[in-house]
Amino acid sequence: MIDRRAAQRRDNGVTKKLYVKTYGCQMNVYDSARMAEVLAAHGYAATGTPEDADLVILNTCHIREKAAEKVYSELGRLNRIKQARRMAGQAMMLAVGGCVGQAEGEELLRRAPFVDLVMGPQNYHRLPDLLRRAEARATVDTEFPSESKFDHLPEVGGGAAADHGVSAFLTIQEGCDRFCTFCVVPYTRGAEYSRPPEDVEREARRLIALGAREITLLGQNVNAYHGAGEGGEMSLAGLIHRLAELDGLKRLRYTTSHPRDLSADLIAAHGDVARLMPFLHLPVQSGSDRILKAMNRQHTADDYRRLIEKLRRARPDIALSSDFITGFPGETEAEFEATLALAREIDFAQAFSFKYSARPGTPAADSPDQLGDEIKSARLAALQTILARSQAAFNATMVGRTLEVLFERPGRHANQLLGRSAYGQWVHAEMPGDYRGRCADILITEAHTNSLAGQPALRHAAAEAQAAPGAFEERPPA
Ligand code: SAH
Ligand code: SF4
Ligand code: F3S
Repeated sequence: MIDRRAAQRRDNGVTKKLYVKTYGCQMNVYDSARMAEVLAAHGYAATGTPEDADLVILNTCHIREKAAEKVYSELGRLNRIKQARRMAGQAMMLAVGGCVGQAEGEELLRRAPFVDLVMGPQNYHRLPDLLRRAEARATVDTEFPSESKFDHLPEVGGGAAADHGVSAFLTIQEGCDRFCTFCVVPYTRGAEYSRPPEDVEREARRLIALGAREITLLGQNVNAYHGAGEGGEMSLAGLIHRLAELDGLKRLRYTTSHPRDLSADLIAAHGDVARLMPFLHLPVQSGSDRILKAMNRQHTADDYRRLIEKLRRARPDIALSSDFITGFPGETEAEFEATLALAREIDFAQAFSFKYSARPGTPAADSPDQLGDEIKSARLAALQTILARSQAAFNATMVGRTLEVLFERPGRHANQLLGRSAYGQWVHAEMPGDYRGRCADILITEAHTNSLAGQPALRHAAAEAQAAPGAFEERPPA
C-alpha cells in the first residue's frame, strides 16, 4: 500500500498539500479522516493551514442555520487566500463536502462561484475522479449513489494522512429514516444504511492495529443498526458483544441513539459487557408529550423516563447525556416547564441544548407558530442553568474517587496527560511516563465544569515503585 502511494507520488513528481476543515458531528470527523485516506493514495499529504494548500475541503454541517452560515463566511476567507495564491502563480482547489454540500448543491455554487467542487457525504469514494472533473469546470455531485461508499473507500489507515488516535470513531450506520420534523439529517445523509458486521469488525481490527484502544461506533441513529452478516441480521447489541472480544480493545462506546430504538438487548448489554462504557447519549429534545408528538419523536416523556430506569437497573452507575431543543414551533410556557422538570429530574451528567432553528425543507419550518428569538434564547438560558448545575454536581461526585482513565494525548503542562474516564469526562493528570494508549487508576482531586484533575492512585504509585513501568498496563477494564 505504502509503496504504491510512494510510486504514485513519484509519478506525479510532487506531493500535493491538503487542508481539511471539519464542522458538525463526529461522523464528519470520521469522514474527514477517510477523505484524507482516499487522497493520500493520490499524492496528497495533510497540511495544517489553508495558506499553503493545493486543495482545501470544508466538511460542513447543516443542522442549524448558524452552522450552515459559518461555511459561507469561511468560504469568503478562503477565496481571498485562493486569489492571493493565484497572484503568486499557485493554484488552490476549493471543495465543499458534508451536509451543506448535500443540501445546497448548485445553490452553493451560485452563492460562492469560486468553489470548484460541491459534494454530498455519500460520494467521498469518488473524490479523485470528482477532482479531475473539477479541474476542468466547477462540479456538483449530490446524487445518492446506488453503491455504498464503504465498499469503495480504501482500508482505514491506508495513508500516513490520517491519525485515528487512541480513541477512534468507526461509522457503522449512516442516514436516518426517523424524520423528526425539525431535522435535516434524513435529507442530507439519506436513507438509513448499516454496514455488514464483518466489515465493521475488519475495520475495528485495523484501528486497533493502528493504536486505537477505545472505539466509538457512530451512526445518526446508531441503535437502529441492523447489519446483514454471514449469520443473518445483527443488532447493535450483537455487534457490541462481538467487538468486545477483540484483543487490544479496552473500551467501546456508541452514539447517537434514538429512544425508540433502544432495544432490551442493548440495555442488557450495558450490564453484561464490561468493555461497553457506562455512558449513554440519549437525546430527548423535550419533556412535553405534545411537543414530542409534533417533533415526530414517537415516544412520550414517560417512555423516556422508563428507559432511563431500565438502563440504571442494568448498569447502576451509567452516566446519561442528552440533547434538548428550546422554542420548537408552538411550544407554550407550560410545555417548556415540562422540559425543565425532566431536566431537573434525570440528573444528566452532560447535555447539549439548542434554540430551535427552522431548516428549509423540514416540516416544522413550515409551521405558522414560529416563536421569536427572544423566547427561544430565554428558554435556552433557563434550561442551560439547570443542565450546567447537574453536570457540575455529577463531576463533583468524582472528587475523592479513583477512576480508570484511558490516556489519549499530552496536556498543556510538562508530564501532564489528558485522558477520559469511563463516564466520558476529560481527566488531566501528571503521569510518571508516557501513558498514551494505556489505562491507569487516577485519584480525582479536582472537578471543573468540563473536566477533572487527579493524580495516579496510591496503589499504582506503590506498584510503580516495585515493577517496571507498564506492568499494570494490561489490566482488564473496570
Ligand atoms: N441523530 C441524532 C441527532 C443529530 S443532530 C439524534 O437522533 O438525536 C444533534 C442534535 O441537534 C439533535 O439531537 C437536536 O437536539 C439538535 N437539532 C437538530 N435539528 C435542529 C434544529 N433544526 N434546531 C435546533 N436544534 C436541532
Ligand atoms: Fe434527525 Fe436524529 Fe431525528 Fe434522525 S433521529 S431525524 S438524525 S434528530
Ligand atoms: Fe451536521 Fe450533517 Fe452531522 S447536518 S450534525 S454534519 S449529520
